Amino acid sequence: MNRLSHTLKMLEQFSQIDSTENISTSNITPAEQAADPRILASQVAKLLAEGELHQQSTWAAHMTAVVSPQSLFGQLLSGLHNGNLLSPELYPTLAAIEQQMINWLCRLFSQQYGHFTAGGSYGNLEALWQAKQAISSSRIVYASHAAHYSINKACQILELDLRSIPCNDNDQMDIATLRSACLADVPMAIVATAGTPSAGSFDAIDDCILVAQQHQAWCHIDAAWGGSLRLLPEYQSLFGQHFAKADSICFDPHKAWGQPKPASILLYQRPMPSMMSMEPDYLQQSPTIGFAGSRGGEAFLPLWYTVSSLGTKVLQQLCREPLDQAKQFSQQLCDNTTWPNYLSPAGIVCFETTQDLSKLVALGMLSQAKRADRAVYRVVFTSTLVRADALITQLQPYF
Ligand SMILES: Cc1ncc(COP(=O)(O)O)c(C=O)c1O
Repeated sequence: MNRLSHTLKMLEQFSQIDSTENISTSNITPAEQAADPRILASQVAKLLAEGELHQQSTWAAHMTAVVSPQSLFGQLLSGLHNGNLLSPELYPTLAAIEQQMINWLCRLFSQQYGHFTAGGSYGNLEALWQAKQAISSSRIVYASHAAHYSINKACQILELDLRSIPCNDNDQMDIATLRSACLADVPMAIVATAGTPSAGSFDAIDDCILVAQQHQAWCHIDAAWGGSLRLLPEYQSLFGQHFAKADSICFDPHKAWGQPKPASILLYQRPMPSMMSMEPDYLQQSPTIGFAGSRGGEAFLPLWYTVSSLGTKVLQQLCREPLDQAKQFSQQLCDNTTWPNYLSPAGIVCFETTQDLSKLVALGMLSQAKRADRAVYRVVFTSTLVRADALITQLQPYF
């Protein structure tokens, strides 16, 4: 407890410092800062103030939510524990909680096996690595134009041939094009996106799974963003009837569930072969299948404490609130402008306008993106504190 009270005392002291004091820190090394506590104090105070940006009712440019006190407590627990699950026999409590969370997420996503990763990019890379191990007849991966760029990165690293399929007007992978592409060149894998990074669109998951099955290919679902909706019964049709037959799925609780980074899960339908052929002599148990070496509870203790203390009903409410705000925002744009706007199920609203909104982009209120290959402004509703009214007030001068 000494460590904790010491930490909280430091935090309290720093919170009282005026972060607007202009102390230059350029060309100073961290070690030199130690010689002048004023510099360190100023930087910590500035960091704390910067973190407060997430509390704003207009902070909607990206997928960054405010972290709840429950998640922060879980993060603190993880830091205080600081065990390493490479030696699970030494940390039975942490290992049991990890398994409990994996089981819960497996049930939620209708999968059988899984492990936590440091983000959706790692999940996509590892899933395609497993696909490459499992299927030797092709090196072709199909994904839509709107898929996350980590798919491209993964294919480069793994020396796979990524073929980008155009989107239809709803920003979904065009299934007719996918079908004929697969007939011409048999796939190793098809990546379906459940919640595209730019516009939050869902590919036709059932079609992607069935086309993959028809060609004995792997189907990976990148649900890093839209997987949050698995928690809400009213959105299940987006995931289709065959969702449980996907070979792998990744989901980032650190996005729409507002958990501190890194919190991501990669799930599989079948047990995967180990990625390692070596048995490190200093470990009692072979490392699990993922890339990660050392790891503690950082990816799951914040979520574990949130779910265990609040229950899934409250988590569902926390998910629905930003989605309701997204609907209101979209409706208010319709009521007040002729700007075409596109409401996605997973809390992203895109709109087109000839107005230059770069000032609002610079203020973190919205971002620029492409939807169905058209330039749009993008508003992300993930924080429970973001308000449609507050954003409309900022946009009103441009109407
Ligand atoms: C659909 C999708 N996949 C993957 C990623 C990458 O996730 P991460 O930033 O956790 O690596 C993102 C990030 O925005 C995403 O939206």
